[in-house]
Amino acid sequence: MKKQIYIALITVFIVSAYAIFRIGSTGAAPATEVSYSREVYPILESRCAACHMGEFVSEGLDMNTYESLLEGSQNGPVIIPGDVGNSLLVKMVTEGKMPKRGPKLTPAQIQILSDWINAGAPNN
Ligand code: HEC
Repeated sequence: MKKQIYIALITVFIVSAYAIFRIGSTGAAPATEVSYSREVYPILESRCAACHMGEFVSEGLDMNTYESLLEGSQNGPVIIPGDVGNSLLVKMVTEGKMPKRGPKLTPAQIQILSDWINAGAPNN
């Protein structure tokens, strides 16, 4: 009798371990792979370059290169890899404070920036 209970418990354990493993390995992968060079940079170049690229950059926030973008402004980082909620850049485009001139970014553009930051803001 006791032996059967042990076998049942071990079976349940193995089945659930397998299920967790499957969910973990397939479900946790990011839905889309966002590329800095193909998707993120073109948005910044078309909408932020007037003030954040070139020789004079507003607030010291230089978007000319990946490295300078990640460095942030004279006040510190504006992108926290993996943490959209604490990334000032996303906050400002969501609130419509940036771009300072011209129309706001579209929800799709903001989504690209957010997905990229959530994926760890890779230089890809
Ligand atoms: C017309 C000029 C202009 C454009 C275009 C512009 N910015 Fe700015 N940005 C500024 C200025 C000026 C500041 C300094 C703070 C202020 O005046 O609000 C600033 C500040 C910022 C800051 C805050 C930096 C800090 O540490 O306080 C972020 C983040 C930012 N901009 C992101 C962007 C993004 C992203 C875009 C493009 C989608 C963009 N900006 C487009 C002029 C601009």
